[in-house]
Order: sequence, then structure tokens, then C-alpha cells
Amino acid sequence: MVARVIPVEPFELVIFGGTGDLARRKILPSLYRRMKVGQMPPEARVIGAARGKMTRKAFQALVQEALSEFVAEADQTEADIQRFVEACDFVTLDALGTGGWAELGKKLRPDVTRAFYLSVGPSLFGPLAQRLSERGLVTPESRIVVEKPLGHDLASARALNKELSTPFDERQIYRIDHYLGKETVQNLMALRFANALFEPLWNARHVDHVQITVAESIGVAGRGSYYDKSGAMRDMVQNHLMQLLCLTAMEPPARFDPDAVRDEKLKVIRALDPVAPGNTVRGQYRANGVDGSYLDHVGNPDSRTESFVAIRADISNWRWAGAPFYLRTGKRLRTRMSEIAIVFKDVPHSIFPEVDEKRGNALVIRLQPDEGITLRMTIKDPGPGGMRLTEVPLDMTFADALEGQEVADAYERLIMDVIRGNQTLFMRGDEVEAAWAWTDGILAGWEAGSARPSPYDAGGSGPEDALLLLHRDGRRWREIEG
Ligand code: BG6
Repeated sequence: MVARVIPVEPFELVIFGGTGDLARRKILPSLYRRMKVGQMPPEARVIGAARGKMTRKAFQALVQEALSEFVAEADQTEADIQRFVEACDFVTLDALGTGGWAELGKKLRPDVTRAFYLSVGPSLFGPLAQRLSERGLVTPESRIVVEKPLGHDLASARALNKELSTPFDERQIYRIDHYLGKETVQNLMALRFANALFEPLWNARHVDHVQITVAESIGVAGRGSYYDKSGAMRDMVQNHLMQLLCLTAMEPPARFDPDAVRDEKLKVIRALDPVAPGNTVRGQYRANGVDGSYLDHVGNPDSRTESFVAIRADISNWRWAGAPFYLRTGKRLRTRMSEIAIVFKDVPHSIFPEVDEKRGNALVIRLQPDEGITLRMTIKDPGPGGMRLTEVPLDMTFADALEGQEVADAYERLIMDVIRGNQTLFMRGDEVEAAWAWTDGILAGWEAGSARPSPYDAGGSGPEDALLLLHRDGRRWREIEG
């Protein structure tokens, strides 16, 4: 099966922080792959902007190096790389001063779509937006792209939204959550809203609870100074897990258009109950002999920052009241695994009296790795000797079902959506603020208490307390396994 490719209009993408890590790892390789499949028109140009002095040639050499490092070898051909590199230009720019802005202005053509990708620290988002506007570089069709961290709490998120929305309209602001660019995350919407099968069951009458797990095997070594100020709550829950929760819990939007989808997500966030500290668990990984502990990795022996969090979230609306959503994410866990499990209620009455174990069906959407869907079913255990039951998975792996069709990286889809002007997979300002309002309550609860995060073994499945969070409700987490 070959994916359909619809070319986008000619564009100019200016990457502030064009020589940085995100540009080299993600943005440039994604654009290259889009060019290779024929989506990036020949007139499109990529303009790197950064503080350091650099010639166009030197930037092109950097782009070439990034492609050879971060694009799969099978996708690298000399002719394509050459063509891509030719489309790249560079300007040395002083974000807070005056240097380079006139030159950038001269490079931009008036008649093509402009996108400004701020791949820089968040303290520069506001000043850059301001400068772009003062320099007259913002046309009505220009777009600005920003990515996490979008604030540290509600107040800072509000301040940032204000800074961005002075020079730009909300319809020009693209806030990336890269989870929304993941194919399987979008599949959640396809699964829910393109199949009639699930909708009648998708509510607290039939669903016992939902588990959302994003487990990572990596630790925080190398990112300690950022992570220690952030923690799992700000780094993962406020954004990625919140988006997964919204897509799972939201009402069917009337149309698949940006505001219809985002309105429904916002309603879910606003329906979330405040979470009491007793409904949360914080953890911090300790060394297991192979690798260091969290405290070693961040170089701060007194740190109380959480590298693991588990939360019982309750949504107070007609669809979900009574069916909690349990969220869990952490670093240095047994394996890398993300999934959403919709655990259905048990049958109302069992006609098999010898079976006392609860056997609710579970629909599991595996987000990564090995993307697919599993439905846990109960069948008869084969053989004579009475009616014994057993559980089997009805299993579909997307890679098999789609005959190996290649799945694009999240950034490929998101950058092309920026150019197309489609905001469906980007967070709206009010959505980000509502997510912070909920998160702030949890953080404040933690700060008010004196408890330290519970330790857990690196390479394990999280702190004991996280198990208790479900046990106490008569439920059990699914295993974290590959
Ligand atoms: C990032 C977080 O947003 O997402 C990282 O800052 C995390 O801490 C990463 O590792 C996870 O993304 P993915 O795509 O690997 O699941």
C-alpha cells in the first residue's frame, strides 16, 4: 500500500534555533522526508536563523550532516540530499537586538506562505514574536510555531499566550504537542468516530475505568537541569497524557475541524475534578546497580522532583461520572510502552458459578511501540472437564494490517499541517490554560505537603504506592511489558 501524498503550497519556513538539536534531529529530517515523497514543492525554502555567525554554505553542510545522522540510510540518496540542501539558506540573527533582521526581511518573498518555527528556549518566544511584528515580517497568512514548555504554570502560560497573541491571531499560532502528530494518537479518533461499534459502550455505564500509561525506559541523564525543574507532571502529564485523556474522553465533535475538535477537548479538561493529593503518587527512581539514580542524574541530592507520577482523574460529566481515568507515566521503567486501556465492566450476572475472577473485556490501544489494537475476550478453555474460562486477545498490529506501509514521524505531519493551515492537531491557547489550571492544583497539593516522592527501582514498574492507588479501588494496573 502506498500512502497518498498531496503537495502543499510553496512556503518559506524560518527555523529560529536552526542549528539546534530539535532542528537537526526532527525538523530538517522531517522536511527532507516530505520532499522525498513529493510533498514539498520545488519553490519551498528553509531558512535557518541563529545567533552564531555562519555562511549559507556552512549551514548547508550542517543540514547535510544532520540528514546523514538522523534520516534512515535507505531514505538517503545523494540527489535528494543535494536538492534539499539547495533549498536551505541561513541568516545570522540577534533575537533580542537588531542584527540580521533586515537581511531576513530581504530573503522572504511576499507571495508565499511564511512559517516561523521558534525552536528556541521559551524565554525567547515573546521577544521573537514581538520583533517579527515590529519588523513588518508578519503577513496575514504567516504562522508561528511553538512547542513545550508552554509555561510553567497557569500564570506563566497566560502571560505567554498574551505575548504571542499580540502580534499573531490565534488562527496563526501553532502550539505543538508532538503526541498529536503520532499516527496512533490520531487513530484514536478514527477508531472512536469512524466505527459505530464502540460508541454505545463508550461511557461509565459500560466502562469500569480507563488506564493511560506512558512508560519510558530512558532516564533523565543529559537533561537533568531541565527535567529537575519540570518533573513528570509538567513534562508529560500536563500535555501528552492530557491530550490522550481528552481524545479518549471527548464527545464526538460535529465536524473534523480545528475548533470543533478543540472545543470538545476543552470541555473534557474543564470537567476534570480537582485531584486531592491522596489520589496521586509521585515516584523517583533509585539506582539498580547498572545505572545511576534520579538524584545522580540531576546532580541534586535533595531533589523532590518526580520522575514518575500516577493519578486517579475523575471527569464529572454524564458520560464519565463513576468511571475514573488512571494516568501513569515515568522514566527508567521496565520498558518503553504507551497504551490506553478501556476496561469494560464485568457481565452483570455470571452463569458460570465456578468462575469467581472478574473478567471484564478490555480494549487496548497500543500507541508505541508495536502500534495496534487488542481486545481482551473471554472464551472457553478448551477440553472436557467442566466449563472453564480463559482470556485471549483479539489482536491487530497496524504494521501487519497495513502491509508495512511506512508511518510518518509526528513532525512530518505537524509541519505539513502548519503549511496547510490546519490547526486540528495543535493546542489552542484556552486548552493549554485549562490544562495548567488542573495541573496547578495537583502541584500545589504536593507543595503543601512534606512528603518526598516514593522511591522505585530503575528498570521496574514504578513505586508500590502506585499499585495501591488501584488496589484500594479494587482494580489492577496492566503490566508494563514489551
Ligand atoms: C517529551 C518529553 O515531550 O516527550 C520527554 O520532554 C519524553 O521527557 C518525550 O521522553 C517522549 O516522547 P516519545 O515520542 O518518545 O514518546
